[in-house]
Amino acid sequence: MKYFRSIIHFAKPYLGYAWLNIIANIFYALFGTLAFVSLMPMLKVLFQNATKVTVKPVYEGLGSIGQYSEDVMNYYISQQIETQGEIYALTWMIVLVISTFLLKNLFGYTALYFITFLRNGVLKDLRNEVYRKTVALPISYYSEKRKGDTLARISSDILEIQHSFLSILELLVREPLMIIFTIVAMLLISAKLTIFVFIFIPLSGFAIAYIGKSLKQKSGRVQKEQGIFLSIVEETLGGLKIIKGFNAQQQFQDRFEASTKRFFRFSNRLMHRQSLALPISEFLGILVIAILLWFGGSMVLVDKTLAPEAFIVYMGLAYNILTPAKAISKASYSVKKGNAAAERVLEVLTTETNIKEIENPVSKKTFDEAIELKNIRFRYEQDWVLNNMSLKIAKGQTVALVGQSGSGKSTVANLLTRFYDVAEGSIALDGHDIRHMRIQDLRGLMGLVTQDSILFNDTVYGNLLVAKPEATEQEILDALEVANAKEFVLDLPEGLHTNIGDGGNKLSGGQKQRLSIARAVLKNPPIMILDEATSALDTESERLVQDALEKMMQNRTSVVIAHRLSTIQKADLIVVMSKGQIVEQGKHEELLEAQGIYHNLVRMQSFQ
Ligand SMILES: Nc1ncnc2c1ncn2[C@@H]1O[C@H](COP(=O)(O)OP(=O)(O)OP(=O)(O)O)[C@@H](O)[C@H]1O
Ligand SMILES: [Mg+2]
Repeated sequence: MKYFRSIIHFAKPYLGYAWLNIIANIFYALFGTLAFVSLMPMLKVLFQNATKVTVKPVYEGLGSIGQYSEDVMNYYISQQIETQGEIYALTWMIVLVISTFLLKNLFGYTALYFITFLRNGVLKDLRNEVYRKTVALPISYYSEKRKGDTLARISSDILEIQHSFLSILELLVREPLMIIFTIVAMLLISAKLTIFVFIFIPLSGFAIAYIGKSLKQKSGRVQKEQGIFLSIVEETLGGLKIIKGFNAQQQFQDRFEASTKRFFRFSNRLMHRQSLALPISEFLGILVIAILLWFGGSMVLVDKTLAPEAFIVYMGLAYNILTPAKAISKASYSVKKGNAAAERVLEVLTTETNIKEIENPVSKKTFDEAIELKNIRFRYEQDWVLNNMSLKIAKGQTVALVGQSGSGKSTVANLLTRFYDVAEGSIALDGHDIRHMRIQDLRGLMGLVTQDSILFNDTVYGNLLVAKPEATEQEILDALEVANAKEFVLDLPEGLHTNIGDGGNKLSGGQKQRLSIARAVLKNPPIMILDEATSALDTESERLVQDALEKMMQNRTSVVIAHRLSTIQKADLIVVMSKGQIVEQGKHEELLEAQGIYHNLVRMQSFQ
């Protein structure tokens, strides 16, 4: 249960509700027992079995409370029958039964009413926390993990935990109390019979515990499969065009069905195991009852030490004790399942972020001199992607990174923004190692235009606000103007407030690029990191995007991963990369004269 215990920490803010739930449950259990006991006087009237007691009984201490209660009951029944008749007495006894049952259920509802706040509160806080962590985790985390897995953890796993939170309080409070009260009532009715019952109850307990053993492992498997299954759905929706365009429906269908088939198998096993618990405990229960019937029956018939109505109520109580016992066994499964889910959720929460801020980081809100990469080496997995690279980017310069695909250009952008950290060497901004800077300050100094335009399912306005939440409408229009996007945005059906669809899919490629440029412009940072899209645009959009980029880079320090000769030509420094190393650098004309790799790239028009 160790995972579950860490989750309980999330219940702290709702402790008040837990107490209210416990108090209500105490009354629930009390009236639950009294409800059965209250049947006794009614049966007494019915069976005309009330001993005539004419003198009001006196209380003689706790030891004889059983006898005293019976005498009091007999006294009142005798009185009622004497003065008002049997039917009148019966009516009153029935009212008594109804009232206790009513109170029982009222308190049952109250208990659930309060616990709801706790359960849903934990659900809310846990989700918020996992979401916070999901965003905090480094980019690298998600190239390893499937997104669907994270989705499963934040949705169904947390839901599972929420479900089992009810169980844990039932397990700890409600049902044990119910059992205790019932046992007290049983002892009061017949101590002899109760001791006899006690020999059998632990036996059934063991049988139930045995079934529960492998449940945690099994439910862990089911939850994991849930993650895989969501991953497939997520990928499918993301790649729908390719799946349809390549007629790959069947492939994906097969992959999906393989997952649902595994899910089918695992959850069948889990549910079979679960469903076994109920019939077994019920059957064991009825065995105990049968033995009771035989033993208690002979007490009624032969020894005459037990009144028949007392025996009936006793049987009711004995059966009643099975309900909480069953509930406990069910709740313990549920807690086990919750524990497996908690493990998966905590795994996310406790994942160490490897992009960490040091204690007392340097706070720096301006960029004054230069960014310097010194002998950096970096790898994602096995092979070095950047190998001993050094580069100085002075303030105000535009540096263009060119080179074949896979030479490590985007990787440089990933390192500058600290999505990843270098393995060796260092990157310094105005002499401060970026690992010693506040991450928020570092990223605050940079504007980012990624290789694929990343837009959100929101309005144009909303998408731009990501860069500057307090921006005015005028500022947004200005940014759109710089990015050559104002015209098309104002032409949209609802202008700035038009929703651009999932990932901006209602826009063209060039429009998307210009919006992501506008977003960076709105932020107005001193440093621009631009990973130019490789996708070719038609000449008109190409010109618009090109123009937007140029305007954006004016008076700024820019690192451009460029694929267009036009961008590259204007750079102050062109850095030619190959296999993670700088092979040439200089200005356009110098490099052309050198007749090296750059010359070749220009000649072949290949800046991929
Ligand atoms: N998340 C990742 N995990 C593992 N390897 C990666 C990852 N991202 C990139 N790589 C590898 O790192 C190398 C450099 O990739 P990078 O994206 O920096 O290339 P690039 O120069 O930007 O290429 P392109 O011009 O095609 O965008 C490639 O060989 C690629 O396989
Ligand atoms: Mg790239």
